[in-house]
Parts: sequence; C-alpha cells; structure tokens
Amino acid sequence: MYEFDRLLERKGTDSIKWDTLGELYGDPDLTPLWVADTDFPVLPDLERALSERATNATFGYTFAGEEYYKSVIDWNASRNRLRIAKEEMLDVPGVVCGISFVLAALTKPKDKVLICPPVYPPFFAAPKALGRELLFSPLRRAGRYEMDFDVFESRLKEGAKAFILCSPHNPVGRVWEKSELEKIAELCARYGVLVISDEIHSDLIFPGHKHIPFLNVSPKAEEISVTAMAPSKTFNVAGLKASYLIVRNPEIREKIRETLEQFHVGVNLFGYKATEVVYRKGERWLEDLLVYLEGNARSVLSFVESRLPQVEAYMPESTYLMWLDFSAYGLEQQSLMKKLAGEAKVALNSGKTFGEEGEGHVRLNIGTTRALIQEGLEKIAAAFGA
Ligand SMILES: Cc1ncc(COP(=O)(O)O)c(C=O)c1O
Repeated sequence: MYEFDRLLERKGTDSIKWDTLGELYGDPDLTPLWVADTDFPVLPDLERALSERATNATFGYTFAGEEYYKSVIDWNASRNRLRIAKEEMLDVPGVVCGISFVLAALTKPKDKVLICPPVYPPFFAAPKALGRELLFSPLRRAGRYEMDFDVFESRLKEGAKAFILCSPHNPVGRVWEKSELEKIAELCARYGVLVISDEIHSDLIFPGHKHIPFLNVSPKAEEISVTAMAPSKTFNVAGLKASYLIVRNPEIREKIRETLEQFHVGVNLFGYKATEVVYRKGERWLEDLLVYLEGNARSVLSFVESRLPQVEAYMPESTYLMWLDFSAYGLEQQSLMKKLAGEAKVALNSGKTFGEEGEGHVRLNIGTTRALIQEGLEKIAAAFGA
C-alpha cells in the first residue's frame, strides 16, 4: 500500500497552489485547498527514473521514443479499453493549449464554441482568447448534475462549430454515462459540430462508475471528435508539461498537425519520460490513491453533515475536486470568498469562476492529506459559527 498521509513540503518550490497565496488571496498562510494539483509524494519509480535521466546529462533535442508510445497505447487499452494507433496521437505540452490549438486549426474567429457551465474556467478563456464566441448549455441539477439536451440542441441550432466536453466533468465530478455520450455524439454529428473531449480526469474514477472514452461511443463520435488526455492530474506531473491529443479522423488530424507545426510545438524530454514511467509502473499507486481519495471525500461529507449542515455536498463520481454549495448562507460570492479567506483562512476556488451557475459555490480540492483537509474544514466551521 502506498502512503498518502505524508504532506509534501511544497512551500518555496514556486508552487502555484502554495506560493501564490499572498498575491492571490492576500495571505501567504492560508490552508491551500484550491488549484487542481495534489500534495502527495510522487510514484517512487518516477522520482528514480527522472533522477537517472538527469544524471545522464544530455538534454538536446529529443523525440518521443517507441517506449513512450507503447506506454500510452497500453495504458489506454488496459484502463479504458481504448485502442489507439500511434499515428492517431499528437503530442502537446498541455491539455488547455491542446484545446486552443484544436480551436485554432478547426474554427475561425467569431465562430461559436459551446460549453456546459459550471465548467473549468479555461473553457471560457481559451475560445475567447482566440476571438471565438461562447454559447452556453448549463448543466441542470436534477439530484445530480445532468446535461439539458433541449438547451444543448437549441445551441447547436444556433450555429455552434465546436463543443468542448469535460469528461469527467470538472467541477461537478460527473462521469458521463453511455446514453449521455451517445446523445452528445448523435446531436453533434447531426449539426456538424466538432467535439473536443477533455478526458484529463478520466483515470480518477470512483467505484460504481466507469469512464467511457468519447472515441468508444460510436463510429460517428470517432469521426467528429478530438480527445485530449494527460497523466498530469492523475500522477501530479502538470509541471512537466506533457499531454497528448488522440484524433481518429485523418482530415481533422492533418489540420491540427499543420497548426502544431506552424507554432513549432514540442514536449519536454522529462515529460515524455514521466508519461512512460507512470503509465508503465503507476497502476498500483493509482489504485491506492483512489482508495485514499474516496476516504477523503467521505470524510468531507461526514464533516459537512455534522458540522456544516447548511452546506450542500455530495460524493463526486470522479476527480479530487468537490463542489460545495454555500448558498443557504445567502452571501454574495465576493463576501463568501472574503469570509473563507479572511476569516476561515482557507483558500478555495470561487464557484463563480466556473460560470454564473457557480454563484454561492466553492470548489474544494481534496487531493491532499486528510489532516490538512480536516484543518481547513475546522477553520471553515469556526468562521461560520458551527
Ligand atoms: C478539465 C481540465 N482540463 C485541463 C486541465 C489542465 O490541463 P493542462 O495543465 O494540461 O493545460 C485541468 C486542470 O485542472 C482540467 O481540470
């Protein structure tokens, strides 16, 4: 059993999560339960492999070797029954910039891009930065969050050119079911809409749920989609900048490849090495991580139930992010965030950065030790007089 109860010392490592608190929240000593990375010691094989690679000090131009491709292909086949050919992969430094490259390659300025808020903030920012317009089909809350297919279809009719799917969905933690994905594929194919399926959280699935890669949904889905994947969330290697796109449709793939060549995009050699090692040796570690994260989520739920009963929380189906509803307190978002940072001394993500639908909500990152989460929750409970 791998150990996840030891908190890594991350202060002073230029960590966004730990070292920007003063700048962003006005207090460097807040308990950081925000940006989506984790505080666990990495897979020991990874530490060893990168140290070995660093002592072999040749850092010139490097290509992705056969072992890298094989590790990606085998990982996806064994975890998600997703069969990929090496030729279908395009390497990119990050998933967000990968999405931007896809939009740049396959849409034009002023084209409409559809997203389903509340959703990961760069889904708003990336299309906007490229001069694309946004269309929204907000998720609706029917016990759990669901797609509203009537609104979704009407947005497609309004002329959406691309839809960015978050699968699983950050921040609400949904793992989309086959029937939901089939409906998305069927509608997007009917209206000629490109689907960009961001599956960065797809390794982090809790028992009772199953991730279905968009590419496995139907032949139509294969035709109209691009999938973005990375080991970065799962194994906490986001700083190594290694992600990949999987594109089955050769015409779409060639257009993206041309754009990547235009911008001379490449992946860092340590990123390639890290991907290979975690995909080859990280399965056991990931299984243990999932057990620990599930325990964290359950401990948050029991704390909220007993000490913060006005807060609405639920068990996520995936990811180490929890979506908490504080709206019963009737605070404006700014006052809520001020209270959490200023009084409770806890850094959380404001729900509003995920869209208007996030009013009254916060996103809590449970990818850390149970003790640190407990400390944060105790401070929140004290600030809210519970
Ligand atoms: C849905 C989703 N996509 C992409 C990313 C980040 O991807 P990258 O760091 O590779 O750009 C995140 C990070 O939280 C995310 O939640």
